Amino acid sequence: MRLSTQPSLDRFDAVPAASYRPGHGAVRAWLYLLAVLVVAMVAVGGATRLTGSGLSITEWRPVTGVVPPLDAADWAAEFDKYRDTPQFRILNQGIGLDGFKTLYWWEWGHRLLGRIVGLVFFLPFAWFWARGMLGRRLLTGLLGLGLLGGLQGAIGWIMVASGLQPGMTAVAPLKLALHLTTASLILAGLVWLAAGTRPRALAPAPEPVRVVACLLPALVLIQIWLGGLVAGSKAGLLYNTWPDMDGSLVPPARVLFDKVPFIENFIDNLALVQFNHRLFAYLVVGVAIAHAIQAARTAPGSAAGRAMGVAALALAQMGLGIATLLLQVPLWAGLAHQVFAMAVLIMATVHARLSLGVSAASAPKGAEVPIGLEALAGRGA
Ligand code: HEM
Repeated sequence: MRLSTQPSLDRFDAVPAASYRPGHGAVRAWLYLLAVLVVAMVAVGGATRLTGSGLSITEWRPVTGVVPPLDAADWAAEFDKYRDTPQFRILNQGIGLDGFKTLYWWEWGHRLLGRIVGLVFFLPFAWFWARGMLGRRLLTGLLGLGLLGGLQGAIGWIMVASGLQPGMTAVAPLKLALHLTTASLILAGLVWLAAGTRPRALAPAPEPVRVVACLLPALVLIQIWLGGLVAGSKAGLLYNTWPDMDGSLVPPARVLFDKVPFIENFIDNLALVQFNHRLFAYLVVGVAIAHAIQAARTAPGSAAGRAMGVAALALAQMGLGIATLLLQVPLWAGLAHQVFAMAVLIMATVHARLSLGVSAASAPKGAEVPIGLEALAGRGA
């Protein structure tokens, strides 16, 4: 579906629309496609973790690893390598070749998607750049995201390598949280840039609304990091009650801080890891709701609508988190909670970017743009 738009005439101190160039519709569509692929990558990564498949490929071969085992001898060789890992020896002695293949396909699929995202990023990027279709801001942002994407591949391998160490049956929680947060940062960056290429002008929201709007994606990212720690340390399999934890709203300090040195509790003490994730969720939801009220009072119109959207998604995500916990993390709930976190982040990022306003003075009259998230959210501005 396409929407015909006119640049509005009332201009103010809005952020330029990442300098409008002809063909920006194609660039926007490409950025949103990349965002969709990153969400798919997060979903497959989550399924890989929840099915316990992440340690089935024991090597990092960025190019040749694209070819999976093709015949019985290849499969036998791959299975042999896996049988040499501590995870197999401690946990999975019972699985046969068929069980191994299931694990392998999840991990291979996750890595394949990573390669596809890389190609879908770099090939059009080079083409758009060569044709002068990327303004300076957009180019700088995309170069940063390209670097972060490369780094993410390396972090992924460092994470897997941590799970292959003697005595380990899963990857290190800290590295898993880092991997998930970097993916989320890349997603937020893509969505930020995409929202900024909107050709229709949009007034900035009043300053207090802008400040909180920009704070929200940062809070959501911190919450994603804390969620990664819960998932990585399997802290969701303990204290499966809500709102209390083992009978009390705030567990006693001797439970929350029983490890020495003190700092280690934040990673290794499962009670504190889960408690921090709960507490920060209340903060995120509280700030989002207060912000929606603030925006409705001081910036009625599209900013208030978007702020309401962020609050509603954050609240729904909290409900999903509670259900995940009460049900002791079934695969569907764990996966839904992880993917929905990306929806909260996307909405918060679009809202933050559009709250800064977009000046589109150089957009051609009647420019046709595909309806994107931000076009929907900002309609009627
Ligand atoms: C805005 C609120 C929230 C956000 C953005 C959020 C985000 C996340 C994320 C990104 C993960 C990691 C998922 C993974 O790596 O698979 C996670 C894990 C988890 N969260 Fe939340 N969460 C929120 C609220 C809550 C609440 C309120 C609870 C329960 C009281 C909760 C319970 C859990 C549990 C049990 C896990 C571990 C799931 C697993 O092992 O797969 N979350 N959360």
